[in-house]
Amino acid sequence: MRRPMVAGNWKMHGTRASVAELINGLNQQALPAGVDVAVFPSCLHIAQVVDGLVGKVVAVGAQDCATEAHQGALTGEVAASQLVDARCSMVLIGHSERRSLLAEGDEVVTRKFAAAQSAGLMPVLCVGETLAEREAGQTLDVVAAQLAAVTESLGVDVFADAVIAYEPVWAIGTGLTASPEQAQEVHAAIRAQLAAKNAVLAGKVRILYGGSVKAASAAELFGMPDIDGGLVGGASLNADEFGAICRAAGS
Ligand code: 13P
Repeated sequence: MRRPMVAGNWKMHGTRASVAELINGLNQQALPAGVDVAVFPSCLHIAQVVDGLVGKVVAVGAQDCATEAHQGALTGEVAASQLVDARCSMVLIGHSERRSLLAEGDEVVTRKFAAAQSAGLMPVLCVGETLAEREAGQTLDVVAAQLAAVTESLGVDVFADAVIAYEPVWAIGTGLTASPEQAQEVHAAIRAQLAAKNAVLAGKVRILYGGSVKAASAAELFGMPDIDGGLVGGASLNADEFGAICRAAGS
């Protein structure tokens, strides 16, 4: 039995004032005990969130990390070990916005994944196809290649301490959600790909769905056998909505 997880990716949103308001709202949520809840604020707001959520069992993560695990001369970047020092426990790796807008390829994604783990962070590897790729019937191949880039370089066992998020690019921030059946098909394929190398591990790894998850759509998505929770963007900026999504994962 896999423990569900709901993660909120705040992306490049927030000011000190709006983050304070969001923390206040989250502190008022009844979060289900059986669900791992995590939030990923901008780097600027990590300390504020860690301090503000004291007493709440919510993990805090970063949205990216450097390819190097440790401090050094790399202007503008943040090392995974610095994130650990800031009391982060997780980090998003390979989000599609970074893959497409910042040209992050599989090699960089794999290096960041390795850097995160070597510093003690749990990576959340994001994979997903574009609309053109889906329409060309390439969804499973694209996702398989993104996953294989990591497993071929680092081995499958790295997923004993990692989470996977399937986020179809066409569903991110568009209000379009993959149907539960469309998402389940990809989640099952991801799990089968891991199972071909390590069946026990594949049965344990959590695969989250992301792409316009809302409280209204969450329960149906999370009811699918291989969907173990969600990576939530826009809806995670509203504490009540995010709380409702967390509760849907616990029911
Ligand atoms: P939305 O929930 O806003 O579609 O964003 C999904 C996402 O990219 C989470 O990482």
